[in-house]
Amino acid sequence: MTTQSAELASDSLNTKLTINDQVYDVTHQARVTLLDLLREHLGLTGTKKGCNEGACGACTVLMDGQRVNACMTLAASCSGKSVTTVEGLAGPDGTLHAVQTAFIDQDAFQCGYCTPGQIVSAVACIREGHTGSSEEISEWMSGNICRCAAYPQIVAAVEQAAAQLED
Ligand code: FES
Ligand code: FES
Repeated sequence: MTTQSAELASDSLNTKLTINDQVYDVTHQARVTLLDLLREHLGLTGTKKGCNEGACGACTVLMDGQRVNACMTLAASCSGKSVTTVEGLAGPDGTLHAVQTAFIDQDAFQCGYCTPGQIVSAVACIREGHTGSSEEISEWMSGNICRCAAYPQIVAAVEQAAAQLED
């Protein structure tokens, strides 16, 4: 073993966490973020890397039901946590989540790069009850940037899904 690989080996950690109701036991370097763990180690590429510095929301996932930026979360800090990514929203039979359906119905995307983060964030926004008005939705979705400026359609999609889920 070379000195460098010995250093890498000694730098490796083991993290056990649940992702989309499946338990994973992953060995990774200490510096690996949750975003890179999802995308590079586990092949869950639905969660997107935009700025990689906590400013755009493209990497939004739920951790124990709360929105987090996966690019700003060390994988090692997720031990014992339950993470939900966009891949985990549809039902076991593939039925789309109401938020996913609403994004399609409202045409709430153009390039689609921000969309997984927007959808995951919207699920939490609705659960948190921050859907009293379009202004409130915009405020509580403001951590998710859309470079295509599909904001009116995104708000409309959140309103549609909220109306359905809160029935
Ligand atoms: Fe994480 Fe932009 S990629 S906030
Ligand atoms: Fe293109 Fe949002 S749809 S960045």
